[in-house]
Amino acid sequence: MATEFADKPRNGFALAQIMSESPEVADAYDALFGALRLAPPLASGNVILVTSAEPGEGKTTVASCLAATASLAGQKVLLIDGDLRRSSLTATVGSGDTAGLIEILLGEAEAAEAIHPITADPPQAGVVSFMARGRKSPRFLGAVDWSNARTALSSISQAFDMVFLDSPPILAANDALLFARIVDAVVLVVGTGNANLDGIRRAKEHLDAIGTPIIGAVLNRFEPKVHGPSNQPYRSYYRGLRT
Ligand SMILES: Nc1ncnc2c1ncn2[C@@H]1O[C@H](COP(=O)(O)OP(=O)(O)OP(=O)(O)O)[C@@H](O)[C@H]1O
Ligand SMILES: [Mg+2]
Repeated sequence: MATEFADKPRNGFALAQIMSESPEVADAYDALFGALRLAPPLASGNVILVTSAEPGEGKTTVASCLAATASLAGQKVLLIDGDLRRSSLTATVGSGDTAGLIEILLGEAEAAEAIHPITADPPQAGVVSFMARGRKSPRFLGAVDWSNARTALSSISQAFDMVFLDSPPILAANDALLFARIVDAVVLVVGTGNANLDGIRRAKEHLDAIGTPIIGAVLNRFEPKVHGPSNQPYRSYYRGLRT
């Protein structure tokens, strides 16, 4: 991709730090990724929204780890910071001053201006393409033509095998539900300990009303000794909500 950053990947340090620190977590992400890539909705599109009901459930972590896992598996990956309010990915990569998602959605930037490579962690994951949040305020979402935005995102996604779109929580801002209309599938992250069943139900109802398929739920921060039967060797697991 011809960008001003093309020859000099920025450091995505800590992009997937949790995964690189624990083989068990890396195994769980391999299993999750293996299941997701076979999900029927991804036969016709490859843009996956990663969201949750409430703040802090692990959306950014899961999106980053999935991007690194897919890259490790040889996929050409685009990771997008769709959290225009708490843009932790953009802050990590240090791309707050570049055109990004908001300008793409508004039709004010080309892919080449908004996408640049970052080095992944673990390093074997190579280089992942990254789109920052962009310069404009989330208030500009009100000016987006969502039909055009869908076309723009879909066109960008054709240059990649998988696209992961991080987002704010569904119950805290409308943004994730706007994005749900222009992606191909949704992964719902549930943070063990800070999620509540009513919130998850309401988030799922909102997503069901839009109709974009939820291809999986990730139970994050699952500690077998605290939350489940003992002697289970994994810390997180997934299950499909629909088949
Ligand atoms: N499985 C995990 N094990 C340990 N720490 C975790 C795990 N998942 C997330 N964290 C940590 O929890 C914090 C919140 O995670 P993260 O930023 O991914 O959540 P988020 O849903 O994106 O939050 P926000 O709604 O604020 O965007 C971070 O400090 C992250 O490093
Ligand atoms: Mg986040």
